[in-house]
Amino acid sequence: MKTETDATTHIRVGFGSQKGGIGKSTIAEVLASYLYYEKNIKLLIMDCDYAQHSFYRLRERDKKAVEESTALQEKLKAYIRKTGKRSYRVLKAKPQEAIKVAEEYISEHQEEEISVVIYDLPGRSDSSDLLSLALEMDYIISPIEADLQSIASCMAYAITIRDMGVMLSGSRIKQIFMMWNKVDRRVNTRIMESYDKEIEEYGLGLLKTRLPRSVKFSRELSMNTGGVFRSTYMAPEKDQLAESNIEELANELIEILSLKAYEQ
Ligand SMILES: Nc1ncnc2c1ncn2[C@@H]1O[C@H](COP(=O)(O)OP(=O)(O)OP(=O)(O)O)[C@@H](O)[C@H]1O
Ligand SMILES: [Mg+2]
Repeated sequence: MKTETDATTHIRVGFGSQKGGIGKSTIAEVLASYLYYEKNIKLLIMDCDYAQHSFYRLRERDKKAVEESTALQEKLKAYIRKTGKRSYRVLKAKPQEAIKVAEEYISEHQEEEISVVIYDLPGRSDSSDLLSLALEMDYIISPIEADLQSIASCMAYAITIRDMGVMLSGSRIKQIFMMWNKVDRRVNTRIMESYDKEIEEYGLGLLKTRLPRSVKFSRELSMNTGGVFRSTYMAPEKDQLAESNIEELANELIEILSLKAYEQ
């Protein structure tokens, strides 16, 4: 009998865009930790950005930072006691093997009840392997920045995915959601509003939550800055969460993607 958590029933959420440096990995990292540690969503990370492996390397930096600091070891021990959870798995694989590697892991670790796999997709879509991996997602979240040149390339990617996948019956992808990132405090919101209309007209999804541009997004465990925001071992700390919109983003995704969030 198939269980709710077997390899075919988990949700695949990809972070994708052909635009480099737009925030795919950063948002995936912060959001994954928030969903896992705070919302108890059982997830697995598949880093398929073979050129950089940003997510996988963040885990390695986290690990090294903890190994080298007794203060961080204490902090983490207290965190594990509080959340009752050990860290989630971060796997890496080449794009053409990513789905297989994730599914094998899930079927070999059924007790982990993984219901979501987050794919950090490579920042390109110029080969059939990369495009077909994107089309194998259930949902793609595609960050955009309110900068005209960057919007054009972000929209082009989303429209390609929509044309090739969302509109074709029989493909796995259900929707691609655009999401404003690096929103400056005093930005003229008219650009975003006019593109919001265009996004809708193209039949693309749009997340209501916009993420602000903030130095918090670079505050890692290894930096010892006091507040931790971006870590694979813990969710952003309470004082860091304020005005980051990460809680709003997590709640919005739980609702629209019907993620199974357990209250502990
Ligand atoms: N909301 C934000 N505020 C400030 N800085 C941000 C924000 N989001 C991302 N950044 C920064 O932007 C840079 C690029 O982010 P990131 O590596 O996540 O992009 P990417 O889309 O994954 O890039 P690539 O295509 O190279 O994989 C990083 O230095 C990151 O810290
Ligand atoms: Mg990246």
